Amino acid sequence: MAGFSEHPLRSLAAWLADTALSRTLQTVDWLVPAIQTAHILAVAVVISSVLMLSLAVFGLHGREQPLSRSVARFAPAIGVGLPVLLVTGALMIAAEPDRALPNPAFQLKMAMLVGAALLTWLYARSVRGTPATGPARPLVVRLAAGTSLVLWVAVLVAGRWIAYTLSR
Ligand code: HEM
Repeated sequence: MAGFSEHPLRSLAAWLADTALSRTLQTVDWLVPAIQTAHILAVAVVISSVLMLSLAVFGLHGREQPLSRSVARFAPAIGVGLPVLLVTGALMIAAEPDRALPNPAFQLKMAMLVGAALLTWLYARSVRGTPATGPARPLVVRLAAGTSLVLWVAVLVAGRWIAYTLSR
């Protein structure tokens, strides 16, 4: 079995590290900290919007209004935050490809991110036209909101964990 150090993604990482974009990111001191700051700001936007949506689904916020209104209010922020995360995340990979690509914490993060985003999109979409108000939300929607919230937090933890699962 191939060990972590012989991971096939290491050759992709080596190629990427030699591109003009990567070299620029490696040599201009302020670029990476600025990109990291934008990444964290977008994390704050996405996580807080996901939390507000989940609270609405659990009947702990906006009980007096239809769930569709909470979706209309918070889903656009997720729609803006995610592309920012994607671009800033991709730039961080380009800056130091070896840190992320072959890293199991990064791979787990990406897999969980797909699940979290898909689940959030599905349940938000399913309640878009719901006129109902009050704390009673369908069980399946509460389950989806709870699971996706756990996944979003796990994505955040895995993002921080990348730095602690490096093998060089
Ligand atoms: C959309 C695709 C995303 C990509 C490609 C991406 C990529 C990355 C990369 C490469 C790092 C640097 C890790 C390191 O070198 O230590 C990072 C850090 C991080 N990411 Fe993401 N990320 C994405 C989305 C997200 C999302 C959705 C969240 C949270 C909900 C998130 C939370 C974090 C956190 C908390 C860190 C640690 C920052 C730090 O330690 O300064 N990321 N991400």
